Amino acid sequence: MRLLRIGRATSVAHCLAAAMLLGLVVASWLVAADSSVTPAFTPRQCDPTVVVGHDTCTKCHESELKQWMQTPHYRTFDVLHRTPEAKEIAEKMGLRSIKRNDTCVTCHYTRQEHGTRVRVVAGVSCESCHGGAKDWLQLHADYGGPNITRQMESPAHRHQRRMSSMAAGMNNPSNVYLLARQCLSCHTVPDERLVNVGGHKAGTDQFELVAWSQGSVRHNFVRSNGAVNAASDQPRLRVMYVVGAMADLEASLHAVAKATELSIFGRASAARAARAKRRLWEVQRRIDHPLVSQALDAVAELELTLGNESAVLAAADSIGQAGYQFAEVDGNTLSAIDELLPSPSDYK
Ligand code: HEC
Ligand code: HEC
Ligand code: HEC
Ligand code: HEC
Repeated sequence: MRLLRIGRATSVAHCLAAAMLLGLVVASWLVAADSSVTPAFTPRQCDPTVVVGHDTCTKCHESELKQWMQTPHYRTFDVLHRTPEAKEIAEKMGLRSIKRNDTCVTCHYTRQEHGTRVRVVAGVSCESCHGGAKDWLQLHADYGGPNITRQMESPAHRHQRRMSSMAAGMNNPSNVYLLARQCLSCHTVPDERLVNVGGHKAGTDQFELVAWSQGSVRHNFVRSNGAVNAASDQPRLRVMYVVGAMADLEASLHAVAKATELSIFGRASAARAARAKRRLWEVQRRIDHPLVSQALDAVAELELTLGNESAVLAAADSIGQAGYQFAEVDGNTLSAIDELLPSPSDYK
């Protein structure tokens, strides 16, 4: 344990800095980061050329599909373009269609390439979260040969199957950070013009991974062998809570780096980063973990000012690495943060 620091707000873009630095006291020390592992922060939209479409998943994941169809992620496909709010945003942005432009499609829809054309095929779908599947579809479902069943698969093969699916672009829930980052790359709404000109909500400000993933979004049928939609257990929820806060901080910093004016978008993004930082600080007070420390160190003296992109993005990268590694931490060692977790009645 090294020092206590209180941040200062000195620059021209005072509001941004103040939002970030207000009242932050950070305990920190240095840890070595393993920089070889984290995939780069990916754009939220999956590449239409590697999307196979949710119909392909149905064959083996019917229960998951049914659950997904109960969510706003599914419904947005049929509903969004009809709402007066959406029309108003599109009008302010000068867009004639909601489904046929690059703006709304990025977060509300899934696009797939058919021949030479790219079509909107669904709302926020399986692959919006798990990644375009073309390159991992076979890998993730192969227990080790045509005659090998789930029961016969060795733990080593299972591990290797999941690692190879991730290497091929899958946001596999065995590293939940990959999914957390995907949620937040949409839920922070990192599009300045959309927010400042279009009047779109500047992100989901109360987003918290446990509450937002364990309610209607949940579709955990694999782990129960298809029997029930199982809630994640407490050790996993603890990891999700921490990883969710790290992904929020990382994505919020990416949004801050994009801000070009001191307006709603920049302020909301900085305020969100400050909130995520406070949540991590609450975690750190209880578990004193080197990876949380790495994330907090990255922002300890960071000034959230306009034109400070390279420093802000470097901090985001360091937090991303910490988050990716934290997803592997044994949640049994984290019981001290139980009081921070939302109760099931708060699940969305
Ligand atoms: C041919 C059948 C099949 C298809 C098609 C299929 N899956 Fe799977 N999926 C599996 C099997 C088998 C597993 C492994 C279950 C286990 O762990 O025993 C799995 C597991 C998963 C997991 C859990 C992580 C893991 O690797 O165990 C996710 C997430 C997933 N599938 C997503 C998808 C998505 C998204 C699609 C459509 C793009 C899809 N799957 C299509 C068979 C399939
Ligand atoms: C960067 C991601 C992103 C982009 C781009 C985006 N949205 Fe959204 N939008 C979201 C998220 C996330 C929510 C959910 C916010 C929440 O629930 O807190 C949302 C919610 C909405 C809502 C309110 C939800 C409802 O159904 O009542 C409307 C309306 C909306 N968006 C319209 C648009 C329109 C129109 C465009 C294109 C001009 C667009 N959005 C582009 C991420 C995005
Ligand atoms: C591709 C962008 C995208 C990704 C990825 C994404 N979301 Fe969303 N999410 C949206 C949009 C857009 C809406 C609003 C849809 C609407 O109402 O029209 C939404 C709505 C929701 C809602 C419903 C909110 C309400 O008020 O009822 C929940 C819960 C949610 N998301 C959780 C998650 C979680 C958890 C993840 C990650 C595991 C995630 N989302 C990933 C875009 C996304
Ligand atoms: C909003 C983002 C989102 C969408 C959309 C989504 N998933 Fe998931 N998926 C997740 C998250 C997050 C988890 C891990 C949840 C947990 O551990 O509690 C997960 C877990 C899974 C698992 C493993 C479940 C288990 O029991 O361990 C499978 C299989 C899966 N998803 C398949 C699908 C399929 C198929 C679809 C489309 C019908 C889909 N997912 C849509 C975010 C998403």
